[in-house]
Amino acid sequence: MTDTIDLDGLQRLLWNFAGQRVVTVAGRTGILHALANRAATPDEVASELDLDPLATAKIIRALCAQNLVAADGETYRLAAPLRPFFTGGTGDYGPFLDHLHSMYERWGENLEPWLRGEAWKTAPRTSEETARFGAAMQAVSARIARRVAETLDLEGVRTMLDVGGGWGQYAKAMCETQPELHATVLDVPQVADAAPESILGTEFEDRLSWIGGDYLETDYGNGFDLVLLANILHQELAPRAAEIIRRAAVALAPGGQVVVVDFAIDDAKNQHVLGALFAVNMRSFGDTYSEPELRGWMEEAGLANVERQDLGPDRWIISGRRR
Ligand SMILES: C[S@@+](CC[C@H](N)C(=O)[O-])C[C@H]1O[C@@H](n2cnc3c(N)ncnc32)[C@H](O)[C@@H]1O
Repeated sequence: MTDTIDLDGLQRLLWNFAGQRVVTVAGRTGILHALANRAATPDEVASELDLDPLATAKIIRALCAQNLVAADGETYRLAAPLRPFFTGGTGDYGPFLDHLHSMYERWGENLEPWLRGEAWKTAPRTSEETARFGAAMQAVSARIARRVAETLDLEGVRTMLDVGGGWGQYAKAMCETQPELHATVLDVPQVADAAPESILGTEFEDRLSWIGGDYLETDYGNGFDLVLLANILHQELAPRAAEIIRRAAVALAPGGQVVVVDFAIDDAKNQHVLGALFAVNMRSFGDTYSEPELRGWMEEAGLANVERQDLGPDRWIISGRRR
């Protein structure tokens, strides 16, 4: 079975309730990384990472039971399809595992009080937490963004606005696919002020720029060939999500397209595992939106030719064009 795990499979496993703690503990202590480059016994891993041998052996066996790690006699190695995700660099999943770990810690603390109608305890992100969240999003998004760029028809697309585009992970992937493209990324000032430094001296320096502001208040400008809404509608309630789509449609040139990239879910919102779990994670401030909801908002915004393209089992692109 291990050779069938890909990015979608990995994400499903990471979101699995039963396995979550084990995987994140492993991520934090580097077990997955330790087994990415070579096979090792649990004792060797424990000694390398200065961990308790019994606990390490149990965790590695539990990882094996979930197909994340493969056994060969006494030694274990990360399943082959997962190795590229744990070898360091910007696409490494370590920051994403840290993000999931703190997310599940907050679930442990807040889920029951939330169910009783009490407020979810949150504090504004510190700048260090913002940077960590940005690294987690970049790790997840870099690969998916490439898939999105390959799936979309970007011919003739010269200008795009990436609303809530973070550190420009999607904008970069689109610029790599479409050499004539220039992208504007709109994000909160904390991100928009810090992100440009990350592209200094790179091929993107003259092709990406940032605007800092709230996406429900800031002027989007106009005349864009493409306005991207990647993973932002889910963090808003329905009226605000619909308003973001309306604003995006207004910012288009005639013939331009609004492109939504987000988690998929079935129409009744009770069958799709990741979509339904993600809706819990968006607790009372957001949701996983169904295709009819997204289509409806696009059509209300005057967009035509609304179409859906699946990006594996858990994500989709839903796009519509300005007439
Ligand atoms: C889940 S991340 C998605 C980032 C990127 N689009 C992607 O798919 O990788 C959500 C982004 O929305 C930004 N954001 C949240 N609230 C915002 C607001 N009110 N105005 C502008 N950006 C906002 C966050 O800073 C973050 O970069």
